[in-house]
Amino acid sequence: MEYQNILTKKESGIGYITINRPKQLNALNKQTIEELHSALKKFNNDTEVRVIILTGSGEKAFVAGADIKEFMNFNSEQGRELAAKGQELLFDFVENMETPVIAAVNGFALGGGLELALASHIRIASENAKVGLPEVSLGVIPGYGGTQRLAQIVGKGRAMEMILTAEMKDAETALEYGIFTQVVPLENLMETARKTASKILKNSPKAISFAIQAINSGFYTKGFVKEIELFGQAFSTEDFKEGTTAFVERRKAEFSGK
Ligand code: CAA
Repeated sequence: MEYQNILTKKESGIGYITINRPKQLNALNKQTIEELHSALKKFNNDTEVRVIILTGSGEKAFVAGADIKEFMNFNSEQGRELAAKGQELLFDFVENMETPVIAAVNGFALGGGLELALASHIRIASENAKVGLPEVSLGVIPGYGGTQRLAQIVGKGRAMEMILTAEMKDAETALEYGIFTQVVPLENLMETARKTASKILKNSPKAISFAIQAINSGFYTKGFVKEIELFGQAFSTEDFKEGTTAFVERRKAEFSGK
């Protein structure tokens, strides 16, 4: 597969994937999700690649979310399908890979961007990183596993606060919440991710894949299916039309609650 929206390279046992749509703040459109699936699958099957580092291109964003302009005219069924397909191809796929994925979060990780980091096995960030699940400000809910994985990582109380207020947290707060395990200056981010990768490289790949499966097995919930259903339902509301239109028109949304 020829990639248009991602860059990949392989070096000293590490597979690098960079999401490369900097003008759209690396927002995840359908094609980018398909390319990421293909690259991750290829690295997962490559015995020379024992750790993957995933990052965003530029100095501003890891990923600013799912591509709002692509889905704003979808109906309920298309919305449901978007979430289900995205979870299958990327978010559940990453979480259940045998090869560990380190998200090197180099700026905004919002909506689907934070969800991608949350599905990764380890998250390291630069000091300028900002995280949030702002979907309710668009009239929709997180649809790529965020309602489940954020609560699993930060606890239900903090997840409720973050999702219902739609507010962003800075890197330091996200570190305190356990979203990140390390926060470093942007210029040291990739080196720090490589250092963590080199510690993993010393260990048994087979045991690592068993450990990932064992840890994940305690976290499967019915909530992932419920999230897809409710994400789809949100697409039939007037609030969703208003929220996404307001984003594109760069104005504040006026929600009617319908
Ligand atoms: N989708 C599509 N385009 C996006 C985008 C997104 N999620 N985020 C940013 N962009 C685009 C902007 O529209 C803009 O494009 P134009 O230059 O063509 O107008 C470009 O990227 C640069 O963005 P801004 O001018 O907005 O940059 P800023 O510095 O003023 O603001 C920001 C940065 C706060 C991250 C702001 O871009 C923003 O709020 N983005 C949207 C964040 C968001 O709501 N994400 C959740 C998406 S929904 C989702 O992810 C659903 C799901 O769970 C499945």
